[in-house]
Amino acid sequence: MDGKPASQYPSWKKLEQLQSSKKAKLVLKDLFASDPSRFDKHSLTFKSSSPDTEILLDYSKNLVDDEVLSALFALAREANVEAFRDAMFSGKHINTSEDRAVLHIALRNPTPEKGGFKISEPGVSEVHGVLNHMKEFSDSVRSGAWKGYTGKSIDTIVNIGIGGSDLGPVMVCEALKHYSKRDLKMHFVSNIDGTDLAEVLHSCNRETTLFIVASKTFTTQETITNAESAKSWFLETAKDKAHVAKHFVALSTNTKGVTEFGISEANMFAFWDWVGGRYSLWSAIGLSICLSIGYENFQQLLDGAHEMDKHFVSTPLEKNLPVILALVGIWYNDFYGAQTQALLPYDQYMKKFADYFQQGDMESNGKSVTKDGSRVDFETGPIIWGQSGTNGQHAFYQLIHQGTKLIPCDFLAPVETLNPIAGGKHHEILLSNFFAQPEALAFGKTEQEVRNELGAAASNEALVKSKIFEGNKPTNSIMFQKLTPGTLGALVAMYEHKIHVQGAIWGINSYDQMGVELGKVLAKAILKQLGNEKDVSGHDSSTTGLIHFYQKHRK
Ligand code: F6P
Repeated sequence: MDGKPASQYPSWKKLEQLQSSKKAKLVLKDLFASDPSRFDKHSLTFKSSSPDTEILLDYSKNLVDDEVLSALFALAREANVEAFRDAMFSGKHINTSEDRAVLHIALRNPTPEKGGFKISEPGVSEVHGVLNHMKEFSDSVRSGAWKGYTGKSIDTIVNIGIGGSDLGPVMVCEALKHYSKRDLKMHFVSNIDGTDLAEVLHSCNRETTLFIVASKTFTTQETITNAESAKSWFLETAKDKAHVAKHFVALSTNTKGVTEFGISEANMFAFWDWVGGRYSLWSAIGLSICLSIGYENFQQLLDGAHEMDKHFVSTPLEKNLPVILALVGIWYNDFYGAQTQALLPYDQYMKKFADYFQQGDMESNGKSVTKDGSRVDFETGPIIWGQSGTNGQHAFYQLIHQGTKLIPCDFLAPVETLNPIAGGKHHEILLSNFFAQPEALAFGKTEQEVRNELGAAASNEALVKSKIFEGNKPTNSIMFQKLTPGTLGALVAMYEHKIHVQGAIWGINSYDQMGVELGKVLAKAILKQLGNEKDVSGHDSSTTGLIHFYQKHRK
């Protein structure tokens, strides 16, 4: 945090030594055998005032002992994680390259009178006003009071946005579908590929569709192009531009851009530059969520996140869920050479969770210079990937179990399903897999066990070898009561803070995203050259060849 490269902290050096001296001793089978209380020592429960928002984190199946853990907590202290966390919560401009505060936590903060954090930054006092606007608007659309240009109620919502203006709403609407208004169809258009918009429009009726144009900057090429095309499609029948007001609303920080597009300020839901795109689902960007699940449920989502914020701020590092996730992640990322981290929810509603945190984590911590501009000499953000169990088991788990790569995994599952199937054992079967996979990954199967199982067939040595599971693969297991809005809010906030802590230790700016700019700039320049072969200039021979191929073959 103070500009010192993470690799210079004494605890970093200690962790390097521990990794090389202890690697052979950090064997899960032995660690569990030598300490029957390992689960009790290395699991924690998060409880909040909201009903059903209890989360168990079991981190006992990690390649750590007391000495490693104490060096990891020392690292967090040397990197001033607590001070950096407090700087974020008090509105300090921790996004230094853009000179901005980082205050998504203010979006789910109750008023100070109701126990919220005290934050003084322009815009923060307006948060509840925007939430009220979102409530009024979503209530009116959901009740049918909001009418389209021919007097019919809205039955279809199309959110047009990309990155954080898409992934959060998509993930949450999917995760909380159980609570949704089933007769309000939700669509999300993000890709500039016209297929995305065209396929959605096929199932839309101009008289009953509401478009939400979600863009923090209101300059994003994909979103503005899709929104313009949606408007043209709408006007093919509606004709009069005055009707746009009934069918288009905007979520943005850019009032000028919104009004120039043709959406009145009254139909704009504002937020502020201290809300990062990938942290914006709690802001006006969550309007599609309010429309789908209703404002009360959206508020519970915010409340659950706020409860996790309080836990993060007030709990000692050793008992702090986001901190522990961050530290064990750093242990593998920086000391074991793990390149990736899998998120594996055993809840079909959470099937977009890993996609969401691909942006959340990789856009935040995919950096190679520290805040003071020095090149890092250690690894930063992991590659995040995953999908819901048990589908993943039949796709990529083979590699996690027996491949050559170390892939730390987080398993997540609800105690209760929201969809008990009469007469079926779906949930018990699902959970038995959720329990079995981390166990198999940790403890594997020895050669002797394989030989015993195979009997006479054990004479086939190649077969024996192919059936051995080395085990000792690290996992976290996270269980929660059931997927309520409050629980989802807490889970998302937990991972947000995990990302924050890792960024703090690495000394990088987790809150800018300069790396997506270059490609955007080049694409704009190339767009101008596509019309005519003679205009193509300034590229390498590969890029020129590709553009010429396209120009020759297009019809
Ligand atoms: O991918 C870059 C990015 O700036 C993201 O951080 C952001 O979520 C996305 O583009 C969309 O930006 P906007 O909401 O301004 O359209």
